[in-house]
Amino acid sequence: MTRILLLGGTTEASLLARALAAAGKDAVFSYAGRTDNPVAQPLPMRVGGFGGVAGLVDYLRGEKIGAVVDATHPFAAQMSRNAIEACRLAGVPLIGLERAPWVAAEGDHWVHVGNMEAAVAALPDTPARVFLAIGKQNLAGFAAKPHHYLLRLVDAPEGQPLPDCTIVLARGPFEAEGDKALMLHHNISHIVAKNAGGAGAEAKLIAARALGLPVILIDRPALPKREVVATIPEVMAWLSHAERGV
Ligand SMILES: NC(=O)c1ccc[n+]([C@@H]2O[C@H](COP(=O)([O-])OP(=O)(O)OC[C@H]3O[C@@H](n4cnc5c(N)ncnc54)[C@H](OP(=O)(O)O)[C@@H]3O)[C@@H](O)[C@H]2O)c1
Repeated sequence: MTRILLLGGTTEASLLARALAAAGKDAVFSYAGRTDNPVAQPLPMRVGGFGGVAGLVDYLRGEKIGAVVDATHPFAAQMSRNAIEACRLAGVPLIGLERAPWVAAEGDHWVHVGNMEAAVAALPDTPARVFLAIGKQNLAGFAAKPHHYLLRLVDAPEGQPLPDCTIVLARGPFEAEGDKALMLHHNISHIVAKNAGGAGAEAKLIAARALGLPVILIDRPALPKREVVATIPEVMAWLSHAERGV
């Protein structure tokens, strides 16, 4: 049986892990180790970086991995780039499980920006109350603007991430009604988010639409060309093909 490496850290990766376990596949679930208590998986797990492309090539060879599924977050671009290059070098087939980006609907006030710096620049220069829904990385740049920031994080940060901020500890998926209440409670005027796609993180955008609030939406980083599917059944079908060597 082909041994599968599943690069995880998303809701979709957890759903795929369930499908692989139910199908009796020989698979290893890999976490970066970013959160203190990662969601338990019904597959053997490993935690931590591989050590760049060279480390991943060694891992693929050492563990006799026959197929890799990259179900990491669309903004985990370094891992995805490393997987493309390592799989090429090791001759291991790779598939990306990639959810579709969000598309604006009627009533949305979205400003699309290309990166974090552009998101900082797109915020007003006078004090506002910003729901900075981008996780714990890349926060420091937002200190350049005089805003009160609402941060929603999985784990409590070690220090104060920004001079003027409120921290809410929570792990998705989230509901639109709950996010609307959160934004009203904190008197939010702007939202900054990554265009991650998917249902569980969309709640803030639905809430922003309902409240008529502007959203600064950061575009996904570009990746080199790779084979991509959007659903778990498609991954399972691809794996069957990979196992048959077709
Ligand atoms: N970025 C986001 O917005 C976001 C949001 C939600 C969840 N996540 C999840 O959080 C994790 C880290 O994201 P990131 O943006 O920090 O990644 P990243 O910047 O693309 O990756 C940085 C390094 O972390 C290690 N790494 C990342 N994902 C890994 C995995 N699944 N298994 C083993 N090592 C991994 C790799 O280290 P080596 O080079 O040493 O191999 C990689 O080079 C990912 O699993 C991702 O799915 C990210």
